[in-house]
Amino acid sequence: MLNKRVNQSKPEELPEKIPTHIAIIMDGNGRWAISRGLPRLAGHRAGTENLRRVIEACIEFGIKYLTIYAFSTENWGRPPAEVHGLMRILEDVIDRELQELHDQGVQLHHIGRLDRLSKNLRKKVIHAVEFTKRNTRLVLNVAFNYGGRDEIVVAIQRMIADGMKAEQVTDELVSQYLFTAGVPDPDLIIRTSGELRGSNFLIWQGAYSEWYFTPTFWPDFDREELLRALREYAHRDRRYGGLMPLQEDTATHAG
Ligand code: FPP
Repeated sequence: MLNKRVNQSKPEELPEKIPTHIAIIMDGNGRWAISRGLPRLAGHRAGTENLRRVIEACIEFGIKYLTIYAFSTENWGRPPAEVHGLMRILEDVIDRELQELHDQGVQLHHIGRLDRLSKNLRKKVIHAVEFTKRNTRLVLNVAFNYGGRDEIVVAIQRMIADGMKAEQVTDELVSQYLFTAGVPDPDLIIRTSGELRGSNFLIWQGAYSEWYFTPTFWPDFDREELLRALREYAHRDRRYGGLMPLQEDTATHAG
């Protein structure tokens, strides 16, 4: 259960510069479970419990958008019991947590394709999105049956179907055709469990995101770890391919 009494005053330990949008690859559930002699699905359940805590911390820290990678287009290749278990988890989260998330001011979005999900699950996802659409405290994008390349392919198909001409295709237009249309690009992408890959996650939107990697398995990535990532982010200089002001001066004088 989410704690209804989330502290809304800014925690003292919070850095000044806070990302607007954080995206997370919640990796390491399987290894977390195996290291405890548990089945992999127990890791996904522990990961779901942790997600509640991280959502709560994001609300507390004033983060406006959180995108989580819950099921990739590649995850269909996992054993059927695990695939089924992950579908079940999404269904359970909607059944048991929707009202609570709504009460917390969370707006749910789905990014990815709904077509391979069961009719029942599809209906639940659509209902959850509709039910929470007026909430403004935190936008939670759930990437489920999501792949970054697939998202771009779908965007191109839709642009062609809409009769777009080559010269009309711009950065902005492509962004508007992605599943994340209207959502600012992630400032910070976190991947847990020590893997150092992007794994087809937000490949367009993450072009200038800062990355943060931690060896911690997702079920153990707690509020303190999130704060550590935020502190690290606050020290990064985001240059978007340009120069820092001081370097700019030097370049001008030298030039
Ligand atoms: C990667 O860990 C994690 C996933 C494929 C699933 C993530 C899902 C959750 C945390 C549950 C929350 C889900 C919803 C729908 C809200 P892994 O299994 O690849 O871990 P491993 O690399 O250690 O095997």
